[in-house]
Amino acid sequence: MALRTIITSEDEILHKKSKEVTDFNERLHTLLDDMHETLTESGGVGLAAPQVGILRRVVIMDYDDNYFELINPEIILRSGKQKVVEGCLSCPGETCVLERPKKVKVRAADRDGNEYVYTFSDFYAKLACHEIDHLDGILITDIKERYYDPETDKNLK
Ligand code: CO
Repeated sequence: MALRTIITSEDEILHKKSKEVTDFNERLHTLLDDMHETLTESGGVGLAAPQVGILRRVVIMDYDDNYFELINPEIILRSGKQKVVEGCLSCPGETCVLERPKKVKVRAADRDGNEYVYTFSDFYAKLACHEIDHLDGILITDIKERYYDPETDKNLK
């Protein structure tokens, strides 16, 4: 395993759309293991492959002793709303208050290509949405129409 460098928002890679994973091979497993090590080292709770410079649809989430590897994740159902505070390892110093679904169903493959449907609520729902946004080149600072000022609780748009 090896630590990878987390790139930040001025890098254009983070603004591009990632491609589907088609080969569930050793190369993917190495990427996942490296991403997990990198995430643990950074103290974050989620990481998407573009953040380490790889434009593939790969996301990991590690929060409260629950670890998920989501390959080609797709949100198939969104319900409810929650106002959440988010930061991003690729946007150091930025904190945004955004609106996210309260619950999502996500279809994704595991590292061997087996498909599952996950139901994520509350913190996990916002985390999954945040990481899946990365795969479409969307950062928290891009979501201007959902940008709030936490101090005044006012929408800044
Ligand atoms: Co992020």
